[in-house]
Amino acid sequence: MKFFVDTADVAEIRELAGSGLLDGVTTNPSLIAKSGRKMADVIAEICAVVPGPVSAEVTATESEGMLKEGRYLAKIADNVVVKLPLTPEGLKACKALTDEGTQTNVTLCFSAAQAILAAKAGATYVSPFVGRLDDIGQDGMELIADIVQIYANYPAFTTEVLVASIRNPVHVVDAAKLGADVCTVPPSTLRQLFNHPLTDKGLAAFLADWQKTGQSIL
Ligand code: E4P
Repeated sequence: MKFFVDTADVAEIRELAGSGLLDGVTTNPSLIAKSGRKMADVIAEICAVVPGPVSAEVTATESEGMLKEGRYLAKIADNVVVKLPLTPEGLKACKALTDEGTQTNVTLCFSAAQAILAAKAGATYVSPFVGRLDDIGQDGMELIADIVQIYANYPAFTTEVLVASIRNPVHVVDAAKLGADVCTVPPSTLRQLFNHPLTDKGLAAFLADWQKTGQSIL
């Protein structure tokens, strides 16, 4: 499973990239707005820090505008993935960008039917939002199971399942059990993945015992 971080905060990305565990980055217009910076500048900086796929989302609502924005974003760096909404216009733009050899991420996917369309449009990634489905009383992970199963039925579908709107480590583990390709995780949740109280307790005990020996390994 690949780990992407879902943020436009370059300082956070730089720090997490240092762990060696970061495979890519996703952003969206809300995250860019939060950064208070120009989208192209933020994306260029992120692409220089992380060599893996970096999703940058279009904001036009018609395919022609999406194509113009997508081509502009794709020129920022080789690792830019153009993110498009799961609408008829977004899928039209997705098909055209895919045909041009640009990587795409179809976002705001909330049903298996939508995921089938994204795969047929040749999307590199589809982003089902599990947390937002959980928020309205549905089971987001059920959607991941459905998409993984459907895509497995059709080897010609090469679209990767990028689990988005992740709220906690359990989402990550459940997505991994289902065989999802990627999880995009907020920085705070990514850090939570490292933690277990028994790890801290065990390490403290090992170090205390070691100190009593007066030895040093080197
Ligand atoms: C994914 O690409 C989106 O940017 C993100 O995961 C949305 O998450 P949210 O529902 O927490 O805003």
